[in-house]
Amino acid sequence: MKNEINISISKKVFNKAFIHLLECIKRYLILYGGAGSGKSYFICERYLYKLLKNKTCNLLVVRKTGKSNRDSTYALFKQIISKWKLNKYFKINESDLRIKCLLNGNEIVFAGLDDVEKLKSITFSKGELTDVWIEEASEILESDFNQLDVRLRGKGTQKQIVISFNPIDINHWLKKRFFDIKSDNVEVMHSTYLNNDFLDDDYKELLESYKNTDPYYYDVYCLGNWGVLGKTVFDAKKLQERLQNIPKPLKIGYFSYDYDGIKISDIKWVNDKNGYINIYQVPNVPKITKYCIGCDTAGDGSDYFTAHVLNAETGEQVATLKQQFDADQYAKQIYCLGMYYKEALVGIEANFDSFPIMELQRLGYTNQYVREAVDTYTGKTEKRFGFKTTSLTRPTIISKLIEIVREHTEVINDRDTIEELLTIVRNEKGRIEAPDGGHDDQMMGLAIAHHIREQVVFDTEPIEVHSQYRFNIEKINETNNDYGEEIVIV
Ligand SMILES: Nc1ncnc2c1ncn2[C@@H]1O[C@H](COP(=O)(O)OP(=O)(O)OP(=O)(O)O)[C@@H](O)[C@H]1O
Ligand SMILES: [Mg+2]
Repeated sequence: MKNEINISISKKVFNKAFIHLLECIKRYLILYGGAGSGKSYFICERYLYKLLKNKTCNLLVVRKTGKSNRDSTYALFKQIISKWKLNKYFKINESDLRIKCLLNGNEIVFAGLDDVEKLKSITFSKGELTDVWIEEASEILESDFNQLDVRLRGKGTQKQIVISFNPIDINHWLKKRFFDIKSDNVEVMHSTYLNNDFLDDDYKELLESYKNTDPYYYDVYCLGNWGVLGKTVFDAKKLQERLQNIPKPLKIGYFSYDYDGIKISDIKWVNDKNGYINIYQVPNVPKITKYCIGCDTAGDGSDYFTAHVLNAETGEQVATLKQQFDADQYAKQIYCLGMYYKEALVGIEANFDSFPIMELQRLGYTNQYVREAVDTYTGKTEKRFGFKTTSLTRPTIISKLIEIVREHTEVINDRDTIEELLTIVRNEKGRIEAPDGGHDDQMMGLAIAHHIREQVVFDTEPIEVHSQYRFNIEKINETNNDYGEEIVIV
């Protein structure tokens, strides 16, 4: 008969905020955020649980250097094993940095990326490598990550990489790889010290004190926001503050519709948490609110199509779209978005190809932004649909956006937009751009949206002057008073 041992672990030993991740089986599990939030501690606890429970679970714990592992992850495993009174079930090998579960042979090996030989030759006494934990992953290069990722391929047992880090740089490869691209095999958990039920008050006070002493540290280690290093074009302080108060989208999803080859009909909204349209305010039907949509089209394949819907009067961002898809699908979603927002004025970037503009026209959308263009043959000025980005118009609309961000940060509601604006810098040639192959498509879409606002026609209600109201009641001193310009009533 098999010897079975029952080990019970109380749920109370875990931080409540993390416990839902205990059984997560997605390939990449990402825990990021502020300092002292309980990430490392939870990851250790979770692996001990997995190691005891799963038939095969062999873990490699990686940090940039072997030494840092000994002092942190390895020490933490030992600490929790002893706290949970499990020492008799584990064999701890100090010289090798190995921990073995004596009940089932599962093992943990610790290695630094600086120990290439050790990394290459790691084997387990029973079965293959199933799990990798990359602690403080912001310290490692993407190429190092790729090598570990490749190592953990292959059929058979369920494999998983856990990645933990503080978000030290908004331009980090980790952000581009796991946050800017949505993927079903990635589970992300953000946490700050507020999620840690076990943290002492001194630590909390220290983190809060950064607010006055070091805004960068405060953003990254207290709030767990992506850190912004160096000088940015948009007011980083205001944007970081705005991130603390932004609303959650009311709806996330996309539009479904019938298309008979000519016309779009039967437009419906589909709720989908992996959707690419975020709605922050639904169209205001009874009031005469007007909307406009700025659209940035994808260039050479790597970029996103974006769209920003604004309340044309206040400039408030009420919806966003961001997706990599074909231009015709984009045009159809814009058609639906425009119709939904009461036939909003749509301004599409006309640079790479004019297909979305023509497609929108063909579908019968009647409210497109019109620009004046000079015909190269006749020299005459003509009216064309769409917004043309040139070396003159680009800085102009971006300058306007810089001013809006500075003066009215509260009109921006979308986290992804703000996080992109925080990456934008001026390069050595003076051009405003996202560095290191980053994206500027949210910035451009939003800048176009604000630019076209002035072309939205507002129906002004007729002013009726009734005979009982007179403007010249205050007869006294009338000649000295300045009542402003004369109002001409047509
Ligand atoms: N489940 C727990 N039980 C008891 N104490 C805990 C638990 N989780 C966290 N702590 C306490 O909170 C402290 C901070 O947790 P931890 O080191 O896991 O944070 P972290 O998010 O990894 O921080 P950093 O980003 O600085 O690495 C730990 O040193 C420990 O004292
Ligand atoms: Mg940690």
